[in-house]
Amino acid sequence: MKAIRYHQVGGPEVLRLEEVPEPVAGPGEVRIRVRAAGVNFADTERRRGLYDSKVPLPRILGSEAAGVVESVGAGVDASWVGRRVVALAKQSYAELVTAPEQELLALPERVSFEEAAGLLVQGLTAWHLVHTVGRVTERQSVLIHAAAGGVGLLAIQLAKAAGARVLGTVSTEAKARLARELGADEVLLYGEGDVAEQVRALTGGQGVELVLDSVGASTWKSSLEALAPFGHLVSYGSASGAPPPVDVEALYEKSLKVSAYWLHTRHPPALQRQARETLGRELAEGRLQVRAGLVLDLAEAAEAHRQLEGRGTAGKVVLRVP
Ligand SMILES: NC(=O)c1ccc[n+]([C@@H]2O[C@H](COP(=O)([O-])OP(=O)(O)OC[C@H]3O[C@@H](n4cnc5c(N)ncnc54)[C@H](OP(=O)(O)O)[C@@H]3O)[C@@H](O)[C@H]2O)c1
Repeated sequence: MKAIRYHQVGGPEVLRLEEVPEPVAGPGEVRIRVRAAGVNFADTERRRGLYDSKVPLPRILGSEAAGVVESVGAGVDASWVGRRVVALAKQSYAELVTAPEQELLALPERVSFEEAAGLLVQGLTAWHLVHTVGRVTERQSVLIHAAAGGVGLLAIQLAKAAGARVLGTVSTEAKARLARELGADEVLLYGEGDVAEQVRALTGGQGVELVLDSVGASTWKSSLEALAPFGHLVSYGSASGAPPPVDVEALYEKSLKVSAYWLHTRHPPALQRQARETLGRELAEGRLQVRAGLVLDLAEAAEAHRQLEGRGTAGKVVLRVP
């Protein structure tokens, strides 16, 4: 089969379309013919050697796929064959991928493979940020950085559905329009004034109860300054570089809380199932939108990475597998 591999870490040019052996579904697994593979910011960090760097090379990238079940391994219900599914699945920048049966989410016809490929990594992250970690409730104010990104647009929708007032930050006016379209109440452009000051002005001087920060180095200071007393800053990424070490003394004045979220932490299985099934249902019934902002062919993975790490994308980046 064909897959996107890299043999050394580096720029997008290290990604190559190659002929590789087909994966085989082991016990408890299915093999999926991939129709769309999700591209995530972390894939660009893996490729650069900044994340998950102990995995041996050459390596096929990818962590989620939507497609059709082609075959099943030992112990798996054969009725999965032929069904449209999406799953968290490693090495998904490929024509075929394997995934555990218990990870599968069946897709109704009305959900496209492109939309589904944007649901799990970013959707589960957004869901746990809003519900499990952020515990967003009605009338709270939430500030979401990189609000027009894949996680950002989903987090906006989930926080709004929980009854919050949502503020976002983005780098361009086009991204601001998209964030507003998906429900953000206020969107600020970096570089147009002090973000924390603007947040305070928009919240009657109070600040927000929750900040979701995936940008790190360049947003950290304003994230802390934008919080209301007893506010909570959740760090879940470092697109601009790692944030500085937490200065606990500096948290006292407003009794602040700083925490982190990682999708690869071992989650209680029932909680993960609830999150996955809720996301699937919300998408299928039209209450949640996945915006595939950039859809390219598998062979164009390097260009997808270039645009994603160059801040040129809004919404989800997807590789279509012909
Ligand atoms: N903790 C977890 O388990 C977990 C899971 C999934 C994703 N993440 C993290 O969540 C973030 C969003 O992931 P995503 O896949 O949805 O990506 P994304 O938000 O679609 O793309 C990244 C966005 O980050 C913003 N950004 C700010 N400073 C940047 C910089 N210096 N370089 C590049 N981008 C910068 C850009 O938006 P603007 O142009 O608007 O600034 C860019 O579009 C990433 O940091 C990712 O690592 C974490």
